[in-house]
Amino acid sequence: MNANPTPQDRSAGPVTGWWTEAAIYQIYPRSFADSDGDGIGDLPGITARLDHLVELGVDALWLSPFYPSPQADAGYDVADYRDVDPIFGTLADADKLIAGARSRGLRVIVDLVPNHTSSAHRWFTAALAAGAGSPERDRYIFRDGLGPAGDRPPNDWQSVFGGPAWTRVTDADGRPGQWYLHLFDSGQPDLNWDNPQVREEFLDVLRFWLDRGVDGFRVDVAHGLIKQADLADWREPQEILSGNEIDKPRPPMWDQDGVHEIYRDWRRVLDSYDGERILVAEAWVEPAERLARYVRPDEMHQAFNFEYLLASWTAPAQYAVITRSLEATDAVGAPTTWVLSNHDVVRHASRLGLPVGGGRPNGIGIGDPQPDAALGLRRARAATLLMLALPGSAYLYQGEELGLPEHTTMPDEARQDPTWARSGHTQRGRDGCRVPIPWEADAPSYGFGPTDARWLPQPPLWAEYALDRQRGVPGSTYELYRTALRLRREHGLGRGTLQWRESGDEVLSFRNGGLTVLTNFGDAAVPVPAGAEVVAASATLTDDGRVPTDVTVWVRG
Ligand code: NOJ
Ligand code: MG
Repeated sequence: MNANPTPQDRSAGPVTGWWTEAAIYQIYPRSFADSDGDGIGDLPGITARLDHLVELGVDALWLSPFYPSPQADAGYDVADYRDVDPIFGTLADADKLIAGARSRGLRVIVDLVPNHTSSAHRWFTAALAAGAGSPERDRYIFRDGLGPAGDRPPNDWQSVFGGPAWTRVTDADGRPGQWYLHLFDSGQPDLNWDNPQVREEFLDVLRFWLDRGVDGFRVDVAHGLIKQADLADWREPQEILSGNEIDKPRPPMWDQDGVHEIYRDWRRVLDSYDGERILVAEAWVEPAERLARYVRPDEMHQAFNFEYLLASWTAPAQYAVITRSLEATDAVGAPTTWVLSNHDVVRHASRLGLPVGGGRPNGIGIGDPQPDAALGLRRARAATLLMLALPGSAYLYQGEELGLPEHTTMPDEARQDPTWARSGHTQRGRDGCRVPIPWEADAPSYGFGPTDARWLPQPPLWAEYALDRQRGVPGSTYELYRTALRLRREHGLGRGTLQWRESGDEVLSFRNGGLTVLTNFGDAAVPVPAGAEVVAASATLTDDGRVPTDVTVWVRG
């Protein structure tokens, strides 16, 4: 393993702390619970449902952005980092949510979006007004266009959502002016992290939320803040992953070495607070050794393990990604994280119902090949039970505890993700995993809110997945999650050590915390270890007690 460790990497002692083994539940506020019936979930809605998280058995929650925003990218376009958007509530509501979580022993992580602001942020408005060459423009990445008329973008970079990564502004005199960089939507201008004011501002934003009692930050696009100084052409299609070979040239917009200095500064701020406040990187960086650099002892605490999320559903692929993840984080003395779903990817209950080894669609719509729902759910349950047995911390996405599938037949007119329009209607985007979740089978909007209003349509059959249809029902996905989270805690699996068992190419098996875990990827049912007691199973075993295809078991003894 060549992670190019620096001297301080090797001196890292064993890391401890709540976060090293936590199960962290992602709340997507728009779609969790709507208190006022406007069809958009909100902070009071979340506060009213906190007992659900306690019952489920998670340790912490992470809230996707709730800050003032024009919602060009569902709140990842922040206009004010120190307030709450009226659609989600008020700052007082945020305080109540934090207090409510704390009183229940739940930690709270908020989202921080430092790569870009909204174009409605006062800094961007000032930059437009101030004109070319001004200090106001220097907080963003403005450049003159190419060609005699400056009418060609400054380089060939593409937006992650499709289309060019540059938009030309109109000057005060009505004439076309400079261009600004936006790696995402045109409503999300990229900040210039070489500007000291930008650095100061975010240190202050960190303090603002730390002072309000949050336990940490999920850092959006953590691998994007620094761009290669010459903004060189890239000539490749935009990929949010930065390439999976250590020696391959990295795209000039991702995973530049300069980002690490920023996180070292932030870490110093967090460490000056009491409690164990954490930073978790959303960094689509491969290979694992490059990603591990974000969690060196003086940088962030955790990074999402997207390589794990993307791994194929085969025993060799799962073995390889788990081993690689553990080795890479061990090399820097950090714990590993695991994740199967979030608000940016097709939900794993549907993704795993697509052919193994096939492409990873950016959303699924009517007319696209449809996943096999039953197979997807069966594998999703097996995958979750496998994941929750791994040492490290696990991230869960709201609704996966209900086995929710992607909405794969959403009418295109209902779509809100900028990806759909910006890709020229070629990529459906992420709306299908962001649908308001069902709480009660027979209530309006399935209990999401007091009315039928909902910002995205819920699919038919949503009633089947509602919490009240699963609660207390043996074998339901919800009860499977509760059992797994309880046993995970009781057996200390999150802080355990994984020991592989010899199991061939069709089965994955390991020991952790006194349990043996086994997932069967093969066609034939396999026996559980002799004399062992099954304590959790992702599906019913065969009549003679063997583990069928696409099933995970945890056994004791
Ligand atoms: C990653 C977020 O998870 C995603 O939802 C967002 O669109 C981009 N970053 C841009 O902020
Ligand atoms: Mg609402």
